[in-house]
Amino acid sequence: MNENLVSKIKELKKERNAIILAHFYQPPEIQAIADEVGDSYYLSEIARDCKEEVIVFCGVKFMGESAKILSPEKTVLMPVKNAGCVMADMASEKAVIEMKEKYPEALTVCYINSTADVKAHCDVSVTSSSALKILGNVENKQILFLPDRNLGGYIAEHFPEKEFILWDGCCTIHDRIKESEVTELKEAHPNAKVLVHPECRKEIRSMGDFVGSTSGIIKYATENEAKEFIVATEEGILYELQKKNPDKKFYFPGGNGAIQCGDMKKTTLENLYNTLLNMENEVIVEENVRVNALNSLLNMHKLSE
Ligand code: 13P
Ligand code: SF4
Repeated sequence: MNENLVSKIKELKKERNAIILAHFYQPPEIQAIADEVGDSYYLSEIARDCKEEVIVFCGVKFMGESAKILSPEKTVLMPVKNAGCVMADMASEKAVIEMKEKYPEALTVCYINSTADVKAHCDVSVTSSSALKILGNVENKQILFLPDRNLGGYIAEHFPEKEFILWDGCCTIHDRIKESEVTELKEAHPNAKVLVHPECRKEIRSMGDFVGSTSGIIKYATENEAKEFIVATEEGILYELQKKNPDKKFYFPGGNGAIQCGDMKKTTLENLYNTLLNMENEVIVEENVRVNALNSLLNMHKLSE
């Protein structure tokens, strides 16, 4: 049945002149069928540069919105309309406007995990793979960073000369990883390297042999000679880790199934097929919001060069 569906999706994709993009947290069967799989930064570049008329974004809403902001002439579809991001929803447009009034001198920097409405009020967006480079390329001393207090704290540690005002948001999935869960795995696997996404709390980051984005974690595990790794991020990353490193072992704090983003897991082969068949769940971003939000994404690409 699945094979049948997979070939129907591939056929439809050609008919529609579509490209399928998937984030590393998507279910394995979705990563397997996607044309491009990557971290938030990589996928934003593909969405900007691809030649197809239709982008089917297997991810969450802020990713689909970013694709539409960068490529307004393309039709951007999402297999699931209500696949959101708890962190992105922690910063509202109104609250950002109020914060900016309080800190008029600050450069307003948003994690790409934010809504289009919020991006429209920000000077530059960052991703976990580009944030350090971008902050190193700006001269401003005062930085208003939102919505992730954990990624913000991680960046701030690298720029002691700057003053960071951190929003009090987080990814509840990464934020709930406990020190005791990592310690337990380290005791069971003393030779394992610890790989941590910067959306984790400081206590977890400080246990990391490597801290970085999903693509950074995959690169580190692939290039490092260790055979075992403790991975503090969403479990969907296991598909690519295992594909690139079939002989290595990966352990997740809290055990199998503990670090899962429910919204990322809403995509199925069935809803992906239906999206392409009916050309449904189109991402729409109001034009004046899009134009302002585009500025923050263009600055992200420019300052990461
Ligand atoms: P990266 O893949 O860019 O590291 O980000 C992870 C993420 O927050 C996706 O929701
Ligand atoms: Fe948002 Fe966290 Fe899910 Fe990423 S893993 S989409 S940050 S809720």
